[in-house]
Amino acid sequence: MKDAQPKTIYLKDYRSPDFLIDKTDLHVVLTDDVTCVTATLQVRRNPATENKQAPLVLNGQDMILKDVSIDGCPVQNSQYVLSPETLTINEVPDAFALKTVCEIKPQENTSLEGLYRSRTMYCTQCEAEGFRKITYYLDRPDVLSEFTTTIVADKAQFPVLLSNGNLIDKGELDNGQHFASWHDPFKKPAYLFALVAGDLSVIEDTFVTCSNRTIDLKIFVEEKDLDKCDHAMASLKNAMRWDEEVYGREYDLDIFMIVAVDDFNMGAMENKGLNIFNTSCVLAKPETTTDMGFQRVEGVVAHEYFHNWSGNRVTCRDWFQLSLKEGFTVFRDAEFSADMGSRTVKRVEDVSLLRTLQFAEDAGPMAHPVRPPSFIEISNFYTLTVYEKGAEVVRMIHTLLGAEKFRQGSDLYFERHDGEAATIENFVAAMEDASGRDLSQFTRWYSQAGTPRITAKDSYDEASGIYQLTLTQSCPDTPEATTEEKQPFHIPVAIGLLGDAGNLAIHLQGTEPDHDTPDNTHKVLELTQAEQTFSFEKLPERPIPVLLRGFSAPVKLEFDYSREQLTAIMSRDDDGYSRWDACQKLAVAVIHDAMQAYRSGQPYIVDTLLAEAYRTILNDSSLDQAMVALMLQLPSEAYLSEIADVVDVEAIHFARQDVRKQLAVALEAELLHTYNSLTGKDKPFSTSAEAVAERSLKNIALSYLVHGEASSALALAQQQLQSATNMTDEISALSVLVNSDSEAAPAMAQQALADFFTRWQHEALVVNQWLVAQANCVLPEGLERVKTLMQHEAFDIKNPNKVRSLIGAFCNNNAINFHHADGAGYEFLADQIITLNELNPQIAARQLTPLTKWRKYDESRQALMCKALERILAEPALSKDVYEVVSKSLK
Ligand code: ARG
Ligand code: ZN
Repeated sequence: MKDAQPKTIYLKDYRSPDFLIDKTDLHVVLTDDVTCVTATLQVRRNPATENKQAPLVLNGQDMILKDVSIDGCPVQNSQYVLSPETLTINEVPDAFALKTVCEIKPQENTSLEGLYRSRTMYCTQCEAEGFRKITYYLDRPDVLSEFTTTIVADKAQFPVLLSNGNLIDKGELDNGQHFASWHDPFKKPAYLFALVAGDLSVIEDTFVTCSNRTIDLKIFVEEKDLDKCDHAMASLKNAMRWDEEVYGREYDLDIFMIVAVDDFNMGAMENKGLNIFNTSCVLAKPETTTDMGFQRVEGVVAHEYFHNWSGNRVTCRDWFQLSLKEGFTVFRDAEFSADMGSRTVKRVEDVSLLRTLQFAEDAGPMAHPVRPPSFIEISNFYTLTVYEKGAEVVRMIHTLLGAEKFRQGSDLYFERHDGEAATIENFVAAMEDASGRDLSQFTRWYSQAGTPRITAKDSYDEASGIYQLTLTQSCPDTPEATTEEKQPFHIPVAIGLLGDAGNLAIHLQGTEPDHDTPDNTHKVLELTQAEQTFSFEKLPERPIPVLLRGFSAPVKLEFDYSREQLTAIMSRDDDGYSRWDACQKLAVAVIHDAMQAYRSGQPYIVDTLLAEAYRTILNDSSLDQAMVALMLQLPSEAYLSEIADVVDVEAIHFARQDVRKQLAVALEAELLHTYNSLTGKDKPFSTSAEAVAERSLKNIALSYLVHGEASSALALAQQQLQSATNMTDEISALSVLVNSDSEAAPAMAQQALADFFTRWQHEALVVNQWLVAQANCVLPEGLERVKTLMQHEAFDIKNPNKVRSLIGAFCNNNAINFHHADGAGYEFLADQIITLNELNPQIAARQLTPLTKWRKYDESRQALMCKALERILAEPALSKDVYEVVSKSLK
């Protein structure tokens, strides 16, 4: 819990540590009641520090200090000071062994930070500042130490004892106890420490590295989950190979372990040699896991593995540099996933997420630069901005430098900083030095928050064949700076010029042709000024500009396209992302028309341009099915809300539904044909990009049909639900049934939900999907359904996956119910935040997000949302986490 006044920590106040810890020796005795942690630290003064008399100030929280000694001599009570968050010893030698003995109670730790119990096992989560709940320590990422860890526990209950590095000793003790000692030869900060004790089963495999070393790979899970580890293992081996091939990075230890735990605040954690995973990010088999689930496992396994270099071998100097490891690693895992599956689909999914949720974060009260200048609670900065926008910033460097120079830059970065705690400047400097490019203006991406806006205007002179494009940039106000204070960004704008018969060659005046594409149809413009004009010559016709291809920068780009131009890009451009983006723009325009009509109570008839474009796509058997499925997906309510100045909850919901229904009616024959052609094929299950695309197209067709007027649609859904052999088909059918407003649907849905639960009640991750399907149901009385489900045996507020599946899904994805004009949704969420604040501050703060967006709503909703926030703020014992988000939101 917070001190009287939660303190703000500033990047500008960074100082190197007064002491270093060369070696850390931990002895952890786990018993049912108290866990005793004895730490022996080899401490010395940091030669780089100015203050040679500085006291030793260790971080520590929620522990009972039983004993402290220096070089074997007890330190008396009068010689140290204990506060709720520190242990200060005033006079210490220049180098010494510090021994502390502390008692903790992991079984009572519901924050899931530090050492805690999840079901039958003990496990840890130390990033960012959890190690200080295990023992007194210099809990900061720039203190790197060599760890040896001994774990003692009851052998029957906890046969498996794990920590980082290599097993160096194990044996039996009295009273049914046993022990294991682990040594990690690589120095690391405490946030990468991990410990696990449990009754776990294991699947094992090996990987032979590029230098012919054989690595043991082990995935530890509860016995019932042994049948769900193959995909994670295959993904791990693919990731290890990929990092060798694409980045030249070989694994360093002789063993790599993953442990799956059910209670986990985030997705997973890259602890050295011992990754700890949320079960949702490691377990997968076709019967229980959707395609999205499979992809998530592949991506997260790779992400954590890639951290071994981008994060562990080279770590962060301080937590303001978080994006140094997270942005880079997300970029790495995104490229890996693109190489494993469909590159276009991966890009579209990532851009959708960024434009919907990160842009919303950038426009809200918690907006912060990729490198935040300050924080109250660092856990609140594991954000879409630090991760996803951070990855886009790295991607822009990749675009500006090209693949080859980028690789040289990354080699240089790893070579220069191996074994060190680095900064974002170090990363950029390596990229500059390897490429010879000046990235000084570019670094504004790290220090200025907000989503830049680019406006594009064009003109064409037929006589000279010159086409001009003028780009203007600006960036809206954010909490730390006004639009006037912000300096122009260095923005790579990838473009194409589309003619009647396809993409035209690009001749940018004053530059050499771009040799990356042989036909010269692709160009990256570099926008560095507030306004810049680019002239293109030798154009035989007026082109349609295709701007921001591949989403080459995380910006909002406005150009006044006609609907015909959008359909031209949709059907003819050679960049898949741009075709999808043009399709989204067209659908947004159509839904905006429908919203207009909804507000004025007029009937609306869907623009035939969209319906016909969809018909063409559905009829074109030469098209990539993944592309078809992506384009048929209407912009989400969340995206429509993000791009609105004031969110009109009802208009967005009902207009979008109306458009969907009309499309379903207009395209019924094509949709039925598509659905039938993809159904009932007796192919073995596969997670290949093609198979995933087929399922995704089939299920979107089903969804349209059920929301249209096809008389057979409900029967098709029910048939699919009953015969499904994989969770993608099963949960898709269940969801459309649950959301259908046709007369026969409620009874069918209720039966289906009951049957589904009976069938899957022993699979926690499937039950979570069952909760999500109901939380997302847009029919009236949504809040009542959620409240009822909270009483269900399947719900447990202490388990973050359950909280996310029920409360999170409802408040984030079910706008029409959550934002009900009576404000009951807001009061409900405030109640949950107040409960969670005590149990698990990190989860509480995260669930707050929908309330922080209050400025986007009408006056009446604004007042109700603020009232809910103020009620939370008035709580007496607010955690730093919740305090920071609520207080900043109300500012
Ligand atoms: N570093 C982890 C990752 O791979 C995330 C851990 C975050 N933990 C936390 N308590 N915020 O992204
Ligand atoms: Zn990460």
